[in-house]
Amino acid sequence: MQIFFPKEKEGESRVSVLPETVKKLVDLGMEVEIESEFGKNLFLKDELYKKVGAKISDDRDSSFSSSDVICRINKPEIFEVTLLKKGSIHISFLDPFNEPELVSEFTNSEVSSISMELIPRISRAQKMDALSSQANLGGYAAVIVASSCLSKSFPMMMTAAGTISPSKVFVIGVGVAGLQAIATAKRLGAKVEAFDTREVVEEQVRSLGAKFVKIDIGKTEETEQGYAKELTKEQIKQQQEGMKEVCAQSDVVITTAQVFGRPAPRIVTREMLDAMKPGSVVVDMAVSSGGNVEGSILNKYVYQNGVTIVGLSNLPGEIAMDASLVYGNNLFNLLDEYWDSESKFFNFDLTDEILSNCVVTHRGEIVNSMVKESM
Ligand code: NAI
Repeated sequence: MQIFFPKEKEGESRVSVLPETVKKLVDLGMEVEIESEFGKNLFLKDELYKKVGAKISDDRDSSFSSSDVICRINKPEIFEVTLLKKGSIHISFLDPFNEPELVSEFTNSEVSSISMELIPRISRAQKMDALSSQANLGGYAAVIVASSCLSKSFPMMMTAAGTISPSKVFVIGVGVAGLQAIATAKRLGAKVEAFDTREVVEEQVRSLGAKFVKIDIGKTEETEQGYAKELTKEQIKQQQEGMKEVCAQSDVVITTAQVFGRPAPRIVTREMLDAMKPGSVVVDMAVSSGGNVEGSILNKYVYQNGVTIVGLSNLPGEIAMDASLVYGNNLFNLLDEYWDSESKFFNFDLTDEILSNCVVTHRGEIVNSMVKESM
């Protein structure tokens, strides 16, 4: 089975696999091909990939059409799908609910596509869960980016020249990213508060030494997979009212609130931003899915009335080496799980719980019912 790892799109700092993971794939018996200058952004020379058994490809298009499996982080261009071999497998984030044309091209080209964001949240799949592996590092990076924009120190410092009070950090949305943001801000010595609509989170917040902000917004629900359900307009209003004062007192607000398959809820309003202290920083981790913060702009720093609003969409890319390591491991674990050592090919068992969730197209058809419905 030949696996090709093409270079990522312009501006992506991460790569889909590091040499140490390539070695694991080669040891399993896979033929690995890496596009020339694949790891350039991370100062990883082709030589390092060659040393662990990869072939280096100077001809991207020909590798696309000869490979059995294509692995990458970002979704492909539509024309790239037309180059792929019939029956081959494409694995990456795909954003399938917003990419009907791309999904159609996978069916036209009879390419089996696996969407990394659709790996289900079950214990067996945790090692393949790239949304979580990247969100975790994104939560860490959000705090580091915020601290570099803030003109205050995170920890308290008692010095001969005076006492510096600790920064106050408020985390809105405590899923994978939010928990890591809390843990990181605590490690740096900040005073941390957090809020989430899912009640189960309160205990997790407290166990990290942070304070859970209580806001009565009535009944909230979560899906079987642990995702929050959308709030009503009235509930969002109550939430905004309840966190207005906390935002005004905070030096840093980090928002991570997402609702699966829906645009992110708009939580921090212009009015709330205007009430914040000069020099405060707001990081909108939901900027790519519509944004939690009024006025945040994709991949921009916005300076508004003394408040910096950070809208970086690729926060894991701020620590690209580690993000690449864990993403590559997610891919390896997926391939390893379904590698049939006898046939030396991927075992496409669509009755399997993981594959039945994350495979979008197979043999010219959309096989994922949620994606089918959304088309
Ligand atoms: P997510 O990225 O979908 O959303 C982030 C957070 O925003 C969630 O905690 C959600 O409750 C919260 N949120 C939504 N609307 C909000 C609002 N209006 N105000 C404040 N917060 C709001 O969530 P993520 O990170 O994917 O995790 C969701 C849950 O799933 C977590 O409990 C996580 O631990 C769990 N999980 C379980 C896995 C497994 O069992 N394999 C793997 C990954 C996550």
